[in-house]
Amino acid sequence: MSVRRLAEDQVQPAAFAFNDENAVWAEATIRKYPAGRQQSAVIPLLMRAQEQDGWVTKACIEYVANRLEMPFIRVLEVATFYTQFQLKPVGKRAHIQVCGTTPCMLRGAEDLMKVCQRKIHHDPLELNADGTLSWEEVECQGACVNAPMVIIFKDAYEDLTPERLEEIIDAFEAGRGDEIKPGPQINRYFSAPEGGPQTLLEDVKPVRTNLEPQPTAEEGATMPPAEAGRPKDTATEVNPAVKTPVTDKEGAEAQAKAAEQQPLSATAKSEPDPKSAGSAAEGAPPEPGAVSGDLKPKRSRKKTEKDT
Ligand code: FES
Repeated sequence: MSVRRLAEDQVQPAAFAFNDENAVWAEATIRKYPAGRQQSAVIPLLMRAQEQDGWVTKACIEYVANRLEMPFIRVLEVATFYTQFQLKPVGKRAHIQVCGTTPCMLRGAEDLMKVCQRKIHHDPLELNADGTLSWEEVECQGACVNAPMVIIFKDAYEDLTPERLEEIIDAFEAGRGDEIKPGPQINRYFSAPEGGPQTLLEDVKPVRTNLEPQPTAEEGATMPPAEAGRPKDTATEVNPAVKTPVTDKEGAEAQAKAAEQQPLSATAKSEPDPKSAGSAAEGAPPEPGAVSGDLKPKRSRKKTEKDT
């Protein structure tokens, strides 16, 4: 990706204005956005200006910035970021953008660029002798499956060979660009396999029995009970030796009685006597890592006037 700068001052026009039709369109486009969000129209307006004049001029950027009440630098940032905006005059009949990203490069993009160098100009973004054609390398245009490809204005020409690109360039130079069908230039339908579909060739009728008409309850339809969670046989599923409150009622009652009595005696045994605990701790050196029985934080505070 090359550095994108505005064209030299010598080629910049002094002013810019939309023609009548585009001015009406621009006002309608700006009104599409909510109040305070008119700046969102910056890309549509720049693109329309490019379609009108062939490229985005400095005066055009200033015009759009004023119209949308944006800082000039903000519009300049947009115009210089997107390679779709041409910042200097390009071929009036065709500006060929050759994708040079990896999939296209692996499928022959470099050979396409050699064709452009030979037929248009050695350097990108330079006009041919007649000023009708120009070319440049761009990043991925999203048609990698049909690589290599080029973009001319708004159309993509895919599955190219150097010979086919030569024919396309000749057609555009002769003013017959609209005779070339955009898209794949081989026997391919959009991004389908070359030569036609390779899978799902049989006419398979989908089986969707749940869409068949079902009898209603009035017509005698019966809904079988759900079997979910039901055991697969009637065999005992647990070890009979394992007693439960259901299978061992006597044992369960005995346990319940013991549990009723246990809390009192257990509490009496386990609760330490605070006096004896305190006296035992007193004077004895603390065990390493032991926590002191008095966990209350001791805080000292300054005496205030109220205290005195
Ligand atoms: S790499 Fe060329 S279109 Fe994606």
